[in-house]
Amino acid sequence: MTCIGWGKIILLGEHAVVYGYPALAAALDRGVTIAPVATPAGGSLRVDVPAWSLKASAADDHPVARCLAVIADGLGVGRPSVSLLGDAQIPPGAGLGSSAALAVAIARALLVHARRRESVTEITHAAAASEALMHGKASGVDVALAVAGGMGVFRKTTGLRAFPSPPLRVLVGPSGSPRSTAAMVDRVAQATSEVVDDARLRELGALTDIGTTALLAGDLAGLGAAMDRAHALLAGLGVSTAQLDSLCDVARVCGAHGAKLTGAGGGGAVIAIAPRDREQAILTEWKNAGVTGFVATVRGKS
Ligand code: MEV
Repeated sequence: MTCIGWGKIILLGEHAVVYGYPALAAALDRGVTIAPVATPAGGSLRVDVPAWSLKASAADDHPVARCLAVIADGLGVGRPSVSLLGDAQIPPGAGLGSSAALAVAIARALLVHARRRESVTEITHAAAASEALMHGKASGVDVALAVAGGMGVFRKTTGLRAFPSPPLRVLVGPSGSPRSTAAMVDRVAQATSEVVDDARLRELGALTDIGTTALLAGDLAGLGAAMDRAHALLAGLGVSTAQLDSLCDVARVCGAHGAKLTGAGGGGAVIAIAPRDREQAILTEWKNAGVTGFVATVRGKS
């Protein structure tokens, strides 16, 4: 049996979501899959994801090994002799929720191996502990999408409020530049530490509401305008880069409704939404800039 954790994009609200504001996020139609393969002759609990050149055993001194151990502890499964054989359809460290997708797929696979019924609460807690190890102060949005798939508005206090929506085509451009979520979350903490209720974070939260209303009304120009403004605010908070700015500018020049960085920034990926007949031009220009983008169709489940 293969177990999945979905990758995700944040359409609006990253960073502000850490401070309690809402974020509009959607699962990608791809992520990380793990198959638990028992090793009856013994051996350590281990994970192997060749697509990411990743191999770790729970006893190793390696960040993913520590995540594996914390997930197993969270589920109370001990250290079973099982190899977790994985495949990944999203790049690691690209702002597309790869670490949460891996953690959720591992948690699901460990429950399957232990012949325990899937529990969303248990999986969410175990994966959240892994994310805390990886990223420090995480809001939980990545884990919520990795578990549930679909689309919705996430708040720290209420979790993911999923809603049905028509399919939305989103261009995704992984910049290829590595980034650290923890470092970017720290940067925003420093940039906003002077005031209790930073106006930029508040506006990012308001843009989530505006963009969600636009999306549900089929107003892609309105959603795009909210994305452009969100990118400007995120850049002002210090989490964009010249490369991300340029990829967004290129998309807009090619006719996108809007474009922004997605996830923590500082590298990672950009997203754009565009009229169908402008998509290829954007992908071609991104390719000329050294970025192989793709079109993801995201949708809220009914
Ligand atoms: C999550 O992909 C991006 C941040 O908002 C951190 C978080 O919500 O945990 C920057």
